Amino acid sequence: MSDVLAVRATGVIRGRNDVPPRFRPPAPPRHFVGRDAELAGIRPGVTVLHGASGVGKTALALKWLRERGSGDQLYVDLAAHDLSQVLRAFGLDVESGDEPAVFRSLVTLRQFTLLLDNADSAEQVTPLLPASGTVLVTSRSKLDLPQAREIGVEPLADDGRLGPLLDRSYVELPERQARLYRLCAWEPDAFGVPVAAAIAGEADCDVEDALDDLVEKSLLTEVGDYAFRFHDLVRAHARAKRYQS
Ligand SMILES: Nc1ncnc2c1ncn2[C@@H]1O[C@H](COP(=O)(O)OP(=O)(O)O)[C@@H](O)[C@H]1O
Ligand SMILES: [Mg+2]
Repeated sequence: MSDVLAVRATGVIRGRNDVPPRFRPPAPPRHFVGRDAELAGIRPGVTVLHGASGVGKTALALKWLRERGSGDQLYVDLAAHDLSQVLRAFGLDVESGDEPAVFRSLVTLRQFTLLLDNADSAEQVTPLLPASGTVLVTSRSKLDLPQAREIGVEPLADDGRLGPLLDRSYVELPERQARLYRLCAWEPDAFGVPVAAAIAGEADCDVEDALDDLVEKSLLTEVGDYAFRFHDLVRAHARAKRYQS
């Protein structure tokens, strides 16, 4: 009831209907493999995908949305998007403090399938959950949301399928990106632009663009403010390239 009132008060119904491009889920990685059990485990209702950074939670959620999700889909990266930003993109200027209620109403009324990426806590997520529908949440920790299905995402096992798929992405890389891909893979953990620039012997700004492109192509993961990390299997693929080219 209070949701409906909030809707009337703030004019959610008049807001734009379609999901603004910025808040549509991006495509899953082209080289996505496996995760059959996890994909099958996601059902209508709320599902929390939890696991270590870089393990493949977002990729899994995006794959499910692309192949099994239905209707209009809304993607909110809680680490990067501000709720009022999301609402403004729908043409909704909301008084401070009302954002969660209006957001909830928006998602419920438009029946969006929702992906809340990078959630920190149950307290952050609970006020955003619509009364019904399908919501995927990714988080580094178990959230213990009531009535949510929790799926632990473990590191991918290498069953030999990923290499050929990564090869396809790799051969299409421009040389600068391919070189960075090979060189940065020798970093065992997360690294920033200055480290990548030093490794490549290039200017920070050039390297930054190339790293962004690698992220765009799902070969590299951004793990914070200009920190990057390879998925373990992708890193192994990139390291092996050093000896082949
Ligand atoms: N199932 C998968 N198949 C192939 N590559 C994957 C898969 N899951 C993740 N990756 C790779 O690992 C990277 C990190 O995955 P991501 O979903 O961003 O991790 P998380 O969201 O857990 O931090 C992706 O960019 C992608 O290259
Ligand atoms: Mg993620």
